[in-house]
Amino acid sequence: KTVALAFSGGLDTTVCVPLLKEEYGYDDVIGVTVDVGQPAEEFDEAEETAEALDLEHYVVDATAAFADLCLRSVRANADYQGYPLGTALARPVIAEAILEVAEEHGCDAVAHGCTGKGNDQLRFEAVWRDSDLEVIAPVRELGLTREWEIEYAAEKDLPVEGGNEGAWSIDTNLWSRSVEGDDLEDPGYVPPEDIYEWTETPGSADPDLVEVGFEDGYARSLNGEELDSAALIAELNDLAGAHGVGRTDLMEDRILGLKVRENYEHPAATALLTAHEALEGLVLTQEERAFKAQVDRQWGEKAYQGLLAAPLVTALDGFVDATQERVTGTVTLKLEGGQCRAVARESDYAVYSESAASFNTETVDGIAQADATGVAKYHGFQSRLANSVLKEQSVE
Ligand code: ARG
Ligand code: SIN
Repeated sequence: KTVALAFSGGLDTTVCVPLLKEEYGYDDVIGVTVDVGQPAEEFDEAEETAEALDLEHYVVDATAAFADLCLRSVRANADYQGYPLGTALARPVIAEAILEVAEEHGCDAVAHGCTGKGNDQLRFEAVWRDSDLEVIAPVRELGLTREWEIEYAAEKDLPVEGGNEGAWSIDTNLWSRSVEGDDLEDPGYVPPEDIYEWTETPGSADPDLVEVGFEDGYARSLNGEELDSAALIAELNDLAGAHGVGRTDLMEDRILGLKVRENYEHPAATALLTAHEALEGLVLTQEERAFKAQVDRQWGEKAYQGLLAAPLVTALDGFVDATQERVTGTVTLKLEGGQCRAVARESDYAVYSESAASFNTETVDGIAQADATGVAKYHGFQSRLANSVLKEQSVE
């Protein structure tokens, strides 16, 4: 029997390798690492660990598909409680890639090293349980703790580098870097500056301007240069990260209901979400913006759950597509002191008339200022009436 394991070379997935043989009776374990834009060192770590474990190991490159998905999420201004969903968007992409390798190699099962407390188990399994393969979650099923894993790894002489990232549990991809666990489990603990790797200490660079070009709501260029999705995100991570843009420290409500303290870095995501919203502000009508905020919120929630395959999302995408046809233009962002602000925007689809809004013109399309007098007289009429009725009734 053979099992394909989602393998990162970290502590959880490393201890899973012997456990799948000893505890689950598998003869062969295949490790699969999926590239969703994590730093090169992580692949080296995965390769080295796989070699030391004598594990058959495959790396699948899903960076381009993942980068496209990240830019698609920007069209829905997607976040969850302020976090731009890097891990959440990546999990289904990783799960699909592993399933493909498992099916190619005639595996009987797929396995992950997620705990029974988090979101990732649910996101992986939502994809895998749609196949005929058995799903195994050793850490959850055997009730493992990180302390037990460290001891077991030492006992078995497993190749785990206890020291590389300290005790943090870290998940990195092109869209975000998340750090959780250990001291951060105390909501009152102030994170040390050195947990940040993508963002410089805010204020350490002189202000910069960057122009982002959008077509149909998709970010396509930086400072006039057209880039593919992955290159655009990577470059913006560097540009905005230098200004300390895109740090989030939040109490996150997980799918299961647990509150967890999370720290994220996501410079490009923050920059693109800021720019995109600014462009929508120029081209969408007031009522479209108000309704889209609700659509966006639902979209972000389904993405957080790892359920973008839900029919609801297809329906939401219909609305998103219809609005994004006009989200074409450019936005200039100012990067400064940990902040990213839109300071200029331009589009052929702007629902904006300078002469109508200007304080220096008297008549627009035959409408004079004085024509607003009647509107002003009526404005608030119903509230005034309701309040006077209440007053009268309370006197009686
Ligand atoms: N809580 C986040 C999410 O559900 C990220 C979890 C990432 N995992 C980690 N080991 N840091 O999307
Ligand atoms: C885990 O619990 O395995 C990582 C965090 C998460 O899934 O939310």
